[in-house]
Amino acid sequence: MADNITLTIDGRNVEVPPGTLILQAAKMLGIVIPTFCYDDRLRSVGACRMCLVEVEKSPKLVASCATPVAPGMVVYTTSPRVIKARKGVLEFLLINHPLDCPTCDKGGECPLQDLTYDYGPTTSRYKENKIRFIEDINQKFDEIKLGPEILIVRNRCIMCYKCIRIVREQAGEADLGVFKRGAFANIHALDELAFADEFSGNTVEYCPVGALLSSSFRYKIRDWLLKHTSSVCNLCPVGCNMRLDWSGDKVYRHMSRRNDEVEQGWLCDRGRYGFDITGAEDRILKPQIKRGASLEPCSFDEAAMVVAKHLRKIIDENRGSEVAAVGSALLSNEEAYAIRRFFNEVIKTSEIDFQTDTTQPLEAEQIDLIGLSGTLGDLESDPLFLFVGCDPAVEQPVATLRIKKAISANKAKAIFLGSYDKRLGNFPTKNVRIPFGLEPEALDYIISVLSGDNSGGDSRFDSEPLLKIADLIRQTGKVHIISGRSFFNHFNRDKFLSSLLALKKVSNGKLSILPSQGNFIGVSHFGLFGEPEHSFSKILERIDAGEIKTFFVFGANPIEEYPDRKFVQEALKKLEFLVVVSPFIHPTAAMAGVVFPQAMLPDYGGTFVNLEGRIQLFKPMENSLKLEVKPAWGIINELSGIMEIGSSWYSDIQIREDIANRLKEMEGLANIPDRGFIFPFINQDDYQSKLNSVTAISKAPAEYPYILQWMTSVHHNGWLTEKSENLMRIAGHQVALINPIDATHEGLVENQIARIGTDTTAINIPINISDKVNRGEILIINSFSKNPVNRLLKKDKPITYVSVKKA
Ligand code: SF4
Ligand code: SF4
Ligand code: FES
Repeated sequence: MADNITLTIDGRNVEVPPGTLILQAAKMLGIVIPTFCYDDRLRSVGACRMCLVEVEKSPKLVASCATPVAPGMVVYTTSPRVIKARKGVLEFLLINHPLDCPTCDKGGECPLQDLTYDYGPTTSRYKENKIRFIEDINQKFDEIKLGPEILIVRNRCIMCYKCIRIVREQAGEADLGVFKRGAFANIHALDELAFADEFSGNTVEYCPVGALLSSSFRYKIRDWLLKHTSSVCNLCPVGCNMRLDWSGDKVYRHMSRRNDEVEQGWLCDRGRYGFDITGAEDRILKPQIKRGASLEPCSFDEAAMVVAKHLRKIIDENRGSEVAAVGSALLSNEEAYAIRRFFNEVIKTSEIDFQTDTTQPLEAEQIDLIGLSGTLGDLESDPLFLFVGCDPAVEQPVATLRIKKAISANKAKAIFLGSYDKRLGNFPTKNVRIPFGLEPEALDYIISVLSGDNSGGDSRFDSEPLLKIADLIRQTGKVHIISGRSFFNHFNRDKFLSSLLALKKVSNGKLSILPSQGNFIGVSHFGLFGEPEHSFSKILERIDAGEIKTFFVFGANPIEEYPDRKFVQEALKKLEFLVVVSPFIHPTAAMAGVVFPQAMLPDYGGTFVNLEGRIQLFKPMENSLKLEVKPAWGIINELSGIMEIGSSWYSDIQIREDIANRLKEMEGLANIPDRGFIFPFINQDDYQSKLNSVTAISKAPAEYPYILQWMTSVHHNGWLTEKSENLMRIAGHQVALINPIDATHEGLVENQIARIGTDTTAINIPINISDKVNRGEILIINSFSKNPVNRLLKKDKPITYVSVKKA
């Protein structure tokens, strides 16, 4: 390694590694050099010249953000020449700047405002008219829409190119570009209204002026009126650190809260723009009780009294086994723990689970397999990714930024093995297409090649690209196999698992099986995991058989989640008493006798576990706990109080202390560092594969010739995101992708509404004709409550065959 370099900045010596920029060396000394276009996560472009410094023996001032240090360099950051240059740069930047700070969203948090105050000229010598970009003379402002959420006011832009670099270097898209030249140069979307990639909101946060704006925040409130609360996003398992900006009881936006070990200051648009879910118009803030056929608001005391009386009777009659409770990955660790202890120890039932979206519940030994192998940071140095049964860009968006970095910085290779094509922006990746459901067989083929006992191909797929994958694995000597959403619901899940583990072993690689729901790992380890005999699938069967008569649902919505909507609806009708804890009256809550309003992110504090196993703390907004809106542990506390039985927990802190006292290995919970800590939840070493029966894919019936698949999208991944007006504005509508040959065969044209049906029901969806899907398969993107995909699914039919006809 080359020797460190010593230089002098403002009379102080500093020793830094070669390649360090002057700006970074100055920062090490605590010297702040003003910047606009510099961002340590993006390539330096030296565009704005705000960071000019004087270097001895250099005739010109140099851009400190683009100039590496040299031995013996002598730098001045506040010399008269430098200060004069800063003034000049600001005067130039302000020539065409509208100076409309009073109506600009960035006002109060604008580096251009601040630096002009610090260094800028107090008057302008420029007397000419400012250039404007008005396209419609009736329009008062120069703004135009770049996409469904983002606008640009082009005459505020200072051409720092940050937005373009974020879009290209991070998202890997080409949505934005610079049009025209000189003073008329401006940022625009390449296609009208097309700027909506999964990370678009970052451009607004990091634009150093008010040029880029979010529709959801524009003109809503001034920055200085906002209060800030540290939080963690739970809309997927990455667990991005974020800041809630709020006033009164309203959250106005989500901003990043940079944690370099997790999200590095980037948020995906789901996490960023989903802030309005908690303030949605139809959110319930009061308990509801069924009177006659409808739910009516009531006091918390009345609702709690009814539920407690019912439970008291069950306890007295020793009928705990007739009670079941399910939670969801939306809950905190503290809530999961309180639910487990209350229902296990007080009600005396083992019927507790959270896997409400699958007919293939994981077993106890399998739960430790779930999570990322290594850390998010480790992804940057993996040389080869094999994605199988997952689409990380949709399921764990911000984690893909690390993978993209591995591809761009280290020339890592990324291969998607599956039945439809996926992408990581425009970063180079390869799709190896196999027929639906044959992931285990394709993996077995690769394993056989790698282990030298390849006895020939499999007629169901093209072996050539699989041989190439095996070659790549051999060449790189290290593969990171990543699986996800499709794994959890795969009809041959155990076979899939054993093939994944076998490939990991034979390739000496890494295996990550990643959940797509937020606190999946947390709730499964803190109390909500149910052994298969107590899984939600089994609970439903017992409800249907009349064995379970009282059912509690915390933060879940089985009717919209389980792959058999009708069965859940029919089973729940047989209950004597259904209690639902939910922020909304969704279809499951509508069937309840009592609904408690559920506390959401800003209302309460607690911890989540991310996909690395990192336990992170999220805090409540001050004075946010609406009196009748409680986290699950708060509701349980009230019920316990009325029944005079069970534990009393008054805060999430107290629950963590309780856990830390009971479990030695969890003592860290009592004192969580600001940036969280990784707990070794994930362990793949001791697992012994088991193979139950393997289901073969049968031939499609003639009248239902298409295999149905469905997936979510970045902007919409379940019933909760449907409550976000912001996300719905971006998510677009539901579409069904069909192969061009199949579309021709069915006489369907692009965007035509098709009727996709089984023998019992059908839904109508517009068609996208795409060669990204196989012939004989149909892929629905997004499920909305008005047109739910799980209406087509049946729990005892592992593969769903459908017809696709003109509606
Ligand atoms: S819009 Fe903002 S981020 Fe983009 S170039 Fe202009 S000032 Fe920079
Ligand atoms: S990547 Fe996941 S955790 Fe991060 S902001 Fe997006 S949804 Fe939230
Ligand atoms: S910050 Fe250095 S040129 Fe812009």
